Amino acid sequence: MPARYTATAITLHWLLALLLLGQFAFGLLVADIPRGTPARGLYINLHKSSGILIGLLILVRIGWRLTHRPPPLPASMPAWQRHAATLSHAMLYLCMAVLPLSGYLASNFSKHGIKFFNLVHWPPWGPDDKTWYALFNLTHHVAALVLALFVLLHLLALAKHMLIDRDGLLLRMWPPRSAHRNHPRSDHPLETR
Ligand code: HEM
Ligand code: HEM
Repeated sequence: MPARYTATAITLHWLLALLLLGQFAFGLLVADIPRGTPARGLYINLHKSSGILIGLLILVRIGWRLTHRPPPLPASMPAWQRHAATLSHAMLYLCMAVLPLSGYLASNFSKHGIKFFNLVHWPPWGPDDKTWYALFNLTHHVAALVLALFVLLHLLALAKHMLIDRDGLLLRMWPPRSAHRNHPRSDHPLETR
């Protein structure tokens, strides 16, 4: 299987997979802290701050992806699987974009705004409006749920490729050195600008 992702795509993929997993768990933890307690303010602002930084990295990833074509899928893949892969990757990107954006918007329709790493206070630019806050908060919640579902689907599809089709798809997204050791002919990045 000669086609593989470039080092930039691989780095962005795995860095964001790790960061999103951590941020997701952090969000669930924060949502459990009772409203009105000092701990909630502290941790929710940390969640907002790390979320904004992750959001910037997501922007870099989407910008990079829009200017670089991924390697072609294995020729053996049927058309429906190609469509499913394209659609599910698009959904993953959509959730990645909507999560930080909806969190940021919700924060600006509440009186709290954002205390960036509890150091700098960014006051909200929107009104303290319960309806808009609830709408963006619901969007955040739904996007988190949809992301979890599509990551699960992503892993199931990968398991099928690795265990049933045995086409080594994971190696396309694996750092070149170890992939090279196992599959010496798979080390030629084919991504183009
Ligand atoms: C970058 C990726 C992000 C992920 C994966 C993420 C994930 C989550 C999750 C799983 C929850 C708990 C589920 C819920 O109750 O909605 C949550 C809650 C929350 N997130 Fe995020 N988040 C991200 C970014 C942000 C950003 C950038 C902000 C604001 C600037 C933010 C603000 C909030 C707030 C305020 C809550 C609490 C909602 C509540 O308890 O009512 N999040 N987040
Ligand atoms: C938060 C978690 C994750 C997200 C958001 C995510 C997102 C994505 C996206 C958007 C792509 C498509 C890249 C493109 O062509 O533009 C992709 C590809 C890929 N991902 Fe993930 N991923 C996650 C976790 C994982 C995990 C845990 C694994 C493996 C255990 C994995 C393995 C792969 C592989 C092998 C590909 C390449 C598929 C191909 O060759 O077409 N991903 N991922």
